[in-house]
Amino acid sequence: DKGGWTSFMAKEISEEPEAVAKTILGRVHDGAVTLTDLDPIADRLAQVDRVIVIACGTAAYAGILGKYAIEQWARVPVEVELAHEFRYRDPVLDDRTLVVSISQSGETMDTLMAVKYAREQGAQVLSICNTQGATIPRESDAVIYTHAGPEVAVASTKAFIAQGVALYLLGLHLATLRGTLTAEQIAEQVAELEGLAPKLQQTIDDASGIKDLARWMADTRSVLFLGRHVGYPIALEGALKLKELAYIHAEGFAAGELKHGPIALIEPGQIVFVIVPSPRDSRSLHPKVVSNIQEIRARGARVIAVAEEGDAAVLPFADEVLRIPLATPLFEPLLAVAPLHMFGMELAAAKGLDVDQPRNLAKSVTVE
Ligand code: F6R
Repeated sequence: DKGGWTSFMAKEISEEPEAVAKTILGRVHDGAVTLTDLDPIADRLAQVDRVIVIACGTAAYAGILGKYAIEQWARVPVEVELAHEFRYRDPVLDDRTLVVSISQSGETMDTLMAVKYAREQGAQVLSICNTQGATIPRESDAVIYTHAGPEVAVASTKAFIAQGVALYLLGLHLATLRGTLTAEQIAEQVAELEGLAPKLQQTIDDASGIKDLARWMADTRSVLFLGRHVGYPIALEGALKLKELAYIHAEGFAAGELKHGPIALIEPGQIVFVIVPSPRDSRSLHPKVVSNIQEIRARGARVIAVAEEGDAAVLPFADEVLRIPLATPLFEPLLAVAPLHMFGMELAAAKGLDVDQPRNLAKSVTVE
């Protein structure tokens, strides 16, 4: 039941804030994270010296986002690998490796086979899944369920955000175990997690201009997405949504990679979405990305910036600015992705396409 929405996808994007709230419910208390979901692997979790995230598509992009958070907070190395590549490359695994699979459906064959392989090799497997009792969680040592609710539209939206949240909870749990953050630092991150749902709601409410933007771009043949640091997986996600929903060529790049090749693609009229890091980020990534914007603008591209409220530095160079509320750098991507989900949907709708059921795709890919 679409509950009055024009598509399941529109309904599911509107449920993104609720997906966040339900996924943290019962897992954060008084500024701390309690993941009883991990009890089955508690003994071995303390010994973990490496994390490998395996997933496909959108779930793998959530994994990249999780890598930044887990490494920063828990100081444990994290690799992210596409599940279908992972098991054919003879990966180095042992009982100190935590393999984290991510799957909305819990039935993706590529991910399931990788999970089985990892366990055969002696690794612990923790799965992040949105479907109670699905095959992948049943084949795993422990499960963190995302509580995004059923996702019907083929393109994953609310599940992506819930996967990010689950990985952040895992990062904070590991940081607690390993003593890499103080209780006070954990409490700060928990407060960010608790503030995320209302900020996401605000982001969605403020993004009403996206429909017009999509209509204006209905004939576009190619769209590029640039992001840096945690904005990078968001660029990949924005591009994937346009491919699968609007059937146009779209590519996501790490912004720093621009001058190593992709800038040659920039010609007058090329549309480029840029996910702009916060100017308050201590790593000074903001001026670097603003200078990327200048470089592509100087070559005639049309720039659509996704930037935080009050970031005036982007205004002289962007044709359009989509605003997100203030958040700390690791949390911004979970806000920035919502307008990109909306854009993919609106562009497909502007082209008269079936938003919920794109051609050639299935909701869960149960063949290899
Ligand atoms: C993209 C999309 C796919 C899935 C991928 C993994 O919008 O929906 O890329 O993310 O097929 O599916 P799950 O998470 O069910 O394993």
